Amino acid sequence: MGTTKKFKKIGVVTTGGDCPGLNAAIRAVVRTGIYHGMEVTGILQGYEGMIKGEFVRLGSHSVSNILQRGGTILKTARSEAFKTVEGRKKAYDNLVKEGIEALVVIGGDGSFKGIEQFSREFPITSVGVPKTIDNDIFGTDYAIGFDTALNTVIQVIDKIRDTADSHNRLFFVEVMGRDAGMIAIYSGIASGAEAVLIPETETKIEQIVKILDRGWERKKSSMIVIVAEGDVAGGAYEIALEVKARFNQYDTRVSVLGHMQRGGSPTCNDRVLASRLGVAAVQALIEGRTNEMVGVINNEISHTSYSDVVKGKKEFPYQLLKIAEILSL
Ligand code: F6P
Repeated sequence: MGTTKKFKKIGVVTTGGDCPGLNAAIRAVVRTGIYHGMEVTGILQGYEGMIKGEFVRLGSHSVSNILQRGGTILKTARSEAFKTVEGRKKAYDNLVKEGIEALVVIGGDGSFKGIEQFSREFPITSVGVPKTIDNDIFGTDYAIGFDTALNTVIQVIDKIRDTADSHNRLFFVEVMGRDAGMIAIYSGIASGAEAVLIPETETKIEQIVKILDRGWERKKSSMIVIVAEGDVAGGAYEIALEVKARFNQYDTRVSVLGHMQRGGSPTCNDRVLASRLGVAAVQALIEGRTNEMVGVINNEISHTSYSDVVKGKKEFPYQLLKIAEILSL
């Protein structure tokens, strides 16, 4: 941490996959910047826009009425060009040309890897804000987008439960999360799933069959197995086939939820989180912080260096697995 800094102009960018709450975070960055007498420039299309020089001036009014909207008004992208030194050099030159003295990067794991590398090569001041529905970023308990994705998932599973129950069916529901099982375990508990399969633990088909047999004996009229997309035993279709070969008591269906999990209006929790983190990011810049991600740990604002964010492994809440197991009897 250094002395208090005053910047004339700061930039804000959303990078990587979109998620609900990005607009709330952009709004918070813009309004906090203006509140402190700074100009704020939006960078379009993630790091791609930095490389191509796609900038837009963001006044206080330009972020009116976006707090409740999904997606990102700045657009986003996963940039291959930013992985090259030539791309990063172009990005740096454009930032200098545009007079952007400091950056707020609203991104996920890949974005922080990119900015960490960028800030080792070029004298750029920046602070990160964590967002991803996967909630797998080290240095924050929650990332923007996770809560909304969970609420979307459980609303859909509730609907699937209605139809499963009417037809006495077994459903395998695949949820996103890349190689993390956070969405799966939280939504599993919240929707009363019979089993939750995640990449963090080994999936044994015999174990699933045992749980389903128990449900059959108890005359359950429907059963739901949630499969995290990154489960090493395979996706929902593959696992459903394997299970069917050993347990065929119910008519079976598979539902892959896909990108609906990334859209929609952010929940109250995500709006508040995005607002807190957006404000904290600009305050961190003013405090002279750089190369750090702001986060929330135990409901307090935290600061974690990019190198720790990139190297660290977020702890999985294994205790939730036991809760899911007990409650699925
Ligand atoms: O990281 C967010 C996420 O939605 C993951 O859960 C998923 O694996 C991936 O992005 C999908 O990426 P794409 O939008 O490129 O298909």
